[in-house]
Amino acid sequence: MFDERKRQERIAADQLAAEMETLLSASRMEELNKQLLSAGNQLGARLMVLDHSGKVQADTYSTLNGTRLTIPEVVGILATGKTADYGVHMIEAVSTRKLLHFWQPYHEDAQWISYCTAGLYQKGSLIGVLVLSSPIQDMMERLFVLQNQMVLYFLIAAGIALLLALFFSRVITRPIASLTKSIQRMGHGDLSVRVPEKGSGELRKLSETFNIMSEKLEMLDKSRNQFVSNASHELKTPLATMKILLESIIYQPDMETEMRTEFLTDINKEIDRLNMIIGDLLTLVSMDSKTMRLNRSTFSLAQVVTDTAHRLALVADKNHQELKLSLNDRCELYADCAKLTQVVYNLMENALKYTQEGGTVRVRLVRSGRDAVLTISDNGPGIPKEDQAHIFERFYRVDKARSRETGGTGLGLSIVHQMVLAHGGSVSVESEEGQGSTFTVEIPIHQS
Ligand SMILES: Nc1ncnc2c1ncn2[C@@H]1O[C@H](COP(=O)(O)OP(=O)(O)OP(=O)(O)O)[C@@H](O)[C@H]1O
Ligand SMILES: [Mg+2]
Repeated sequence: MFDERKRQERIAADQLAAEMETLLSASRMEELNKQLLSAGNQLGARLMVLDHSGKVQADTYSTLNGTRLTIPEVVGILATGKTADYGVHMIEAVSTRKLLHFWQPYHEDAQWISYCTAGLYQKGSLIGVLVLSSPIQDMMERLFVLQNQMVLYFLIAAGIALLLALFFSRVITRPIASLTKSIQRMGHGDLSVRVPEKGSGELRKLSETFNIMSEKLEMLDKSRNQFVSNASHELKTPLATMKILLESIIYQPDMETEMRTEFLTDINKEIDRLNMIIGDLLTLVSMDSKTMRLNRSTFSLAQVVTDTAHRLALVADKNHQELKLSLNDRCELYADCAKLTQVVYNLMENALKYTQEGGTVRVRLVRSGRDAVLTISDNGPGIPKEDQAHIFERFYRVDKARSRETGGTGLGLSIVHQMVLAHGGSVSVESEEGQGSTFTVEIPIHQS
């Protein structure tokens, strides 16, 4: 807008300058005045012709005749040899609203005019200057409005951006803040905390992962507490029995020797039982720690089963139980012999212990692919479905009273489970109540 106006004024000024040159050089001042007036009317601008000293010779407004004009656009031509110049000037007006528009360098009361000047020459030497001055108030006002609008739009946009930024930062940080709070609560020992799984993407995943983790921690915590309370309970029972027996001996000094011997024998049994429980617990704890190492060697699992059957033959004979072995393969393993012997012993002992007199226990060993598969089945009472999932847990007994009678603590199968897992194998149970149970152990055959 500005440039177009400047260009038009330049063309008009140059055209006029060519006319004025001849009139001024011939000193035809009246004609010059007339032409200047008509051109001024036509252009809607004020026109002045100055001589080479800067004095006004003709002015369409007739107010500055004879005065010296010292605006930079004139001085530029007279003093520095420019041939044309252009400038915009504000004619200062006293404004009362200046302060209100502190961001705006112009104020509405000011008058704006442009000066377009052109040098007048005669045979190459400067003889005067033509000044075309036109009011550009309308244009400047439009510029101000535009500028005000731009400032306003900018402020609105900045405000919206700020609000959006605040909103999104709240949206993003709220779940993180709640997660942080939950973690702090967890750090203080409250493992029941869960965070809402809201939103999408990474934050949702984070919440889900956190919930899974806290659930596992809670379960771990519970099972550990239960373990400790079970262990204490198991240790307390023999101690209480021993205390009663000992007190009877202490407070009945005249007790018959036979009875005393019986009591002492019972105490001795309880001590054995305590020893056994503590031994089992120590085994479990050492299996728990990640530092547990397998003492591997090459041996035949079939041999281990045969040896264990020999050790248990007395028990089977006593109960008139039949122990049938069917060993299809020697199953040479590279594994921890002592630990797997314990596995075989615990399973076979259970089968004999929980099967009624005259029952049958079958032990089968086959090789299936890269695994040695050992199955121990009996035709005993079986294990109820709801208990099957728990029998590998520490201290879990199906029939509490009956197992206690038979001397079990409920640690045997959890030891089996741990040891088989340590070998990278698996153990499972299949059982129908009243039909008997079958335990299956699969151990990978590692070659040394
Ligand atoms: N062959 C089986 N037939 C029926 N029930 C069984 C059999 N094997 C295990 N159970 C049940 O599973 C429970 C857990 O067995 P586990 O060997 O872990 O403990 P336990 O025999 O009671 O004690 P421990 O083996 O520590 O002396 C037993 O109490 C018993 O109720
Ligand atoms: Mg057992």
